[in-house]
Amino acid sequence: MNIHTIILAAGAGSRMKSNKAKVLQRIGGMSMLQRVLKTTEQLNSKSTVVLGHDKEGVLKHLQNIKGSISTVIQANQLGTADAVKSAMPNTKSDETILVLYGDVPLVSARSLQELIDQAAGGFSILTTHLDNPFGYGRVIIDANNSATAIVEEKDATDDQKLVKEIFTGILCINQELLATGLEEISNDNAAQEFYLTDLVKIISAKGTNIVPIRANNDEVRGANSKSELESLESILRNMNAQDLLDKGITLADKSRTDVRGTVDAGSDCSIDVNVILEGSIKLGDNVSIGANNYLKDVAIGDNTTIEPFSHLCNATVGSDCNIGPYARLREGSTIEDGAKVGNFVETKKTTLGKGAKANHFTYLGDADVGENTNIGAGTITCNYDGTNKHQTTIGSDSFIGTNSSLVAPVEIGKNAYVGAGSVITKDVPDNALAVGRGKQIIKEDWSKDKK
Ligand code: UD1
Ligand code: CA
Repeated sequence: MNIHTIILAAGAGSRMKSNKAKVLQRIGGMSMLQRVLKTTEQLNSKSTVVLGHDKEGVLKHLQNIKGSISTVIQANQLGTADAVKSAMPNTKSDETILVLYGDVPLVSARSLQELIDQAAGGFSILTTHLDNPFGYGRVIIDANNSATAIVEEKDATDDQKLVKEIFTGILCINQELLATGLEEISNDNAAQEFYLTDLVKIISAKGTNIVPIRANNDEVRGANSKSELESLESILRNMNAQDLLDKGITLADKSRTDVRGTVDAGSDCSIDVNVILEGSIKLGDNVSIGANNYLKDVAIGDNTTIEPFSHLCNATVGSDCNIGPYARLREGSTIEDGAKVGNFVETKKTTLGKGAKANHFTYLGDADVGENTNIGAGTITCNYDGTNKHQTTIGSDSFIGTNSSLVAPVEIGKNAYVGAGSVITKDVPDNALAVGRGKQIIKEDWSKDKK
């Protein structure tokens, strides 16, 4: 079956009180539209996004998203049927059309697959049950469990308003059936809009059975305001954190764990409160992540502890390491097994060899530090000359005294020592001691004469 998804994203979303198109609002670190597109990718569907308000902004955003995505412009927002109609030239008669909303980002691939399977080349709609159905289209279902109409709030009779089965906006339909149905939709209703929901009445009247599939209401909620956006964020947080618990990860508090990407973990990992996990996170066995940590695109080996208040981004950390508190590992940081990175240490494009230590107040940029080397407090690799970045290499088993400046490019050998407070501008050979600082002078009784 060839699935083609039409994503409605032309609406203004004025209740967001934002200059951006509504579908560009983010939840879980990703725009709502991107999240919907990610789901369609799981269905191996191509997508056509219907644009209107802030089309420039949305087009720009789509340039960064991979996949089989095309766009069409809906010139005037005349209603959901008009939006779908504007996408029809992109579709083919042998396709099954799935209609999604760009502002309903949590719908699962599983529910959509069920909708597609049930449509079976005909027509199915995704519904949900709401205790307070106000504002939604009510689904009228006959004795054979076939939907016969969807009635919008503005057009509903008092009896119809009591119906709690509502239309989520999501439907799946054979392309040819859709094309003929769209021709018959008028804007003869209270809102004077072309309602896509009129398809149900039109196609049901032709004798086609329309299967209602009921989804749980969290996944079909939309976001029209910042308040609803925050509700979705919290639903998503809860779903993702539950996923971590199901994988056997210990969480101190599900409501204070934010997963904004994918997490793979071995056994016995634990995560304390207020941790944000973004991008691709890979944890070995027995990894402990302390409170208030931010991790993005990070791999961490077995038995490693990330102490509180650290920030790790595009970094690889080995086994048995200790990172933080207050460490910052930036892009291209590789911390090998058993190494330690302590408080107020920043690394960038740097490898810290096995068992090496940088425990306090240090910047290591464009550096290669050998095994078991100790980087004293306050050491700085001076990697930038104002124009270019340069490399610092330090051999194994060396000792860099506190408050040293290593002016790159510079190479320090194995088992070498640098005296505290040195400014090192020349290479230091293996086994040598380098001291590069003003000599201490003593003036005896110097202050006595001043009195
Ligand atoms: C729609 C459904 C309603 C359903 C509800 C679920 C119709 C007529 N009604 O109502 O039955 O319960 O969704 O949330 O379809 N859009 C366009 N172009 C337009 C109009 C809308 O792209 O001309 C987009 C909007 O950006 C939005 C989506 O379509 O993403 C839904 O439109 P909206 O006007 O919010 O429909 P509702 O009144 O909520
Ligand atoms: Ca809406």
